[in-house]
Amino acid sequence: MLNLLRFLPVLLLGVMSSLSFGEIAHYYIYEEEAPGTVIAVLSEHSMFNSTDRPASNFHLMKQFNSSLVHIQESDGQLSIVERIDREHICKQSLNCILALDVVSFSKGQLKLINVKLEVRDINDNRPHFTSSEIHVNISENSPVGTRIPLQIAIDEDIGTNSIMNYEISANSQFSIDVQTRADGVKYTDLVLMKELDRESQSAYSLELVAMDGGSPSLSGSAVVNVRVLDFNDNSPVFEKSAVTVDIMEDAPVGYLLMDLNAADPDEGANGEIIYSFSPQVSPEVCQLFNINPKSGSVILAGKVDYETKQTYEFDVQAQDLSSNPLTATCKITVHVIDVNDNAPAITITPLTSVNKGIAYITETTAKDSFVALISTSDRDSGPNGQVQCTLYGHQHFKLQQAYEDSFMIVTTSPLDRERIVEYNLTLVAEDLGFSSLKTIKQYTIRVSDENDNAPVFTKQIYEVSVLENNSAGAYITTVIAKDPDFGLNAKISYRLVDAKLMGQSLTTFVAINPESGVLRAVRSLDYEKIKQLDLEVEAADNGVPQLSTRTQIKIKIIDENDNAPVITFPLLDNGFTEIMLPINAPQNYLVSQITGVDNDEGLNAQLFYSIVQDTQRLFAINRVTGELSLTRKMDALQVKDLSIVVAIHDRGRPSLHCNATIKFTLTDSLPSSVEIVIMQSSAEEQQQKDLSIIFIAVLSGGCLVCRYWILVG
Ligand SMILES: *[C@@H]1O[C@H](CO)[C@@H](O)[C@H](O)[C@H]1NC(C)=O
Ligand SMILES: *[C@@H]1O[C@H](CO)[C@@H](O)[C@H](O)[C@H]1NC(C)=O
Ligand SMILES: *[C@@H]1O[C@H](CO)[C@@H](O)[C@H](O)[C@H]1NC(C)=O
Ligand SMILES: *[C@@H]1O[C@H](CO)[C@@H](O)[C@H](O)[C@H]1NC(C)=O
Ligand SMILES: *[C@@H]1O[C@H](CO)[C@@H](O)[C@H](O)[C@H]1NC(C)=O
Repeated sequence: MLNLLRFLPVLLLGVMSSLSFGEIAHYYIYEEEAPGTVIAVLSEHSMFNSTDRPASNFHLMKQFNSSLVHIQESDGQLSIVERIDREHICKQSLNCILALDVVSFSKGQLKLINVKLEVRDINDNRPHFTSSEIHVNISENSPVGTRIPLQIAIDEDIGTNSIMNYEISANSQFSIDVQTRADGVKYTDLVLMKELDRESQSAYSLELVAMDGGSPSLSGSAVVNVRVLDFNDNSPVFEKSAVTVDIMEDAPVGYLLMDLNAADPDEGANGEIIYSFSPQVSPEVCQLFNINPKSGSVILAGKVDYETKQTYEFDVQAQDLSSNPLTATCKITVHVIDVNDNAPAITITPLTSVNKGIAYITETTAKDSFVALISTSDRDSGPNGQVQCTLYGHQHFKLQQAYEDSFMIVTTSPLDRERIVEYNLTLVAEDLGFSSLKTIKQYTIRVSDENDNAPVFTKQIYEVSVLENNSAGAYITTVIAKDPDFGLNAKISYRLVDAKLMGQSLTTFVAINPESGVLRAVRSLDYEKIKQLDLEVEAADNGVPQLSTRTQIKIKIIDENDNAPVITFPLLDNGFTEIMLPINAPQNYLVSQITGVDNDEGLNAQLFYSIVQDTQRLFAINRVTGELSLTRKMDALQVKDLSIVVAIHDRGRPSLHCNATIKFTLTDSLPSSVEIVIMQSSAEEQQQKDLSIIFIAVLSGGCLVCRYWILVG
């Protein structure tokens, strides 16, 4: 059986659509054959097309007693394991058949074969009597022809190997008459052939020999001691010399079968009668029936069973109580009538592994797979023993007849553990008897997992954003993949699909926890260097073969105000610069344009200009453009060591800024060449300064390097 289970997963993985069944192979052996004797080779049976594909992979299916018969896996050779004693396994039944279910699986073809192995009888038992001496009393006045039943000899063999004849040793007075009972058993009566005379011979010792019909014939013998009794007027006489009764097999203990009646016209003790079994009645009958010695009523003392024995034949004697008792014999035949008293039996032989009563079947099992063999039986006979078997539970399984009372549970569709894990099937076997009996058996099939599902991410693309200047190890996001399989087949591990980013491995930027799917930064990310990280994460299960899925993660890095504005013009030296300023510069004279940059983005990089220190209140700065201009004409006497501090702020939160100190060096005149441009001021400017027209004069012959802007109010 273990062997079979190991082989079965392979079996079920095979192509089951070519399942064939219902093949019965008949073989016979004689009992007592030597261990190792080959019974048959199944692959040579005509059911196999041996020229085409030699059948192989034979396995015994049923929980058959394999200590009796062995099957060779390669070719189905059946051989005897140990001596088979027909009398031991089949007792007296005439047909002794061992039924073996064998499966053969080769080249995608599964065959279920029912091997019927008939064990034939050999004459290995000799007739014998239960006691070596048989005592018989006979009255000296018994008439010629008086019959006295003799003990039946026993031979365990059947048919012609059982007792066929009796013989008695030669003598002057007695002969025997051999007869056959309804059940085929031979018995014999001692028959008085010549009148007796006790005074001349009061005892006889005869040898009774029982012979079987075997070849050679075996025999057994007993001594019959006949005692001739003194004269006794009348022998008891039974009303009938033979009585036949029927009894239902479910008759209770104490049931009255019959009242026997014998009469003896003698007076006193000579006429009083005692009933009893004849001395040769078997112990089995003595246990099953009781005779009331006084009344002669026969009652049931035990349970009869039609399925065990259908007929009982025995002799009852009536004996008077004289000192030389005489007996009369009545032949009783009891027919047992079948009652539907046995519910059908269901035997389930799974083809799959079974644990704690639950059959396991892999979800790769194809449609039309053979899952279990169901054998039904009913000990009753006729319709009482005919069984109908039905399967309830789920349309994914059906019952198919294999042969006779054997059925197969077969799948009707492929299975999917992720949809249905467990099937509770119910087998109902019902006989066709008058009040039919049924047996119900539950059969639970659990579908075991195969790695047939890859992990699935909860999102196809994960889009997340992180603030730059994060700390190393900062949490980014968690990816989750689910796998509907079970156990290792559903155990997911995550990994980063490596790629290069700015010449470095992606793993130096982010890392994923293989178990939790938590994605963290490995280093601080700088928006000013990377705006977005695109990566792939793979989720793989631990099944065999391993299945995996990938997902994309887009990490947007969000700018933080981590860069302060930097003044790019004029060039600063340690936050300090000098600018030439003509002493006679007019009002609104454009002194310079301060420009700055900020490496951040958006508001974080939007700059505005201001003057933070201007003791003379001489200057104005355009908040947007950074244009620095004179608010009025200078008064040369007042201005000495003229310097201001300007600042550039960004609009980040919090805002960052930088300062520059501008020192003005006063010159006597306007520069030799000045470009004057007319430009439209921005709306903001107009509001701030209320300037509507700007004249820009371009003076020819100027230096190209220096550009001056003159704003005219
Ligand atoms: C056996 O094989 C032969 C040739 O391959 C084929 O013609 C025949 O039909 C087969 N018989 C059975 C019973 O499969
Ligand atoms: C199998 O057969 C052997 C020999 O006849 C016997 O001893 C043994 O009890 C049997 N086992 C079962 C499970 O019937
Ligand atoms: C024969 O008779 C004797 C007494 O006469 C008695 O003890 C014995 O049991 C009887 N045997 C049989 C078989 O009836
Ligand atoms: C099958 O039967 C068992 C026991 O009665 C029960 O626990 C289980 O839930 C049933 N399964 C299904 C799928 O009905
Ligand atoms: C950037 O991070 C560092 C260290 O975590 C911190 O000292 C600094 O203030 C941060 N800068 C900004 C602009 O958040």
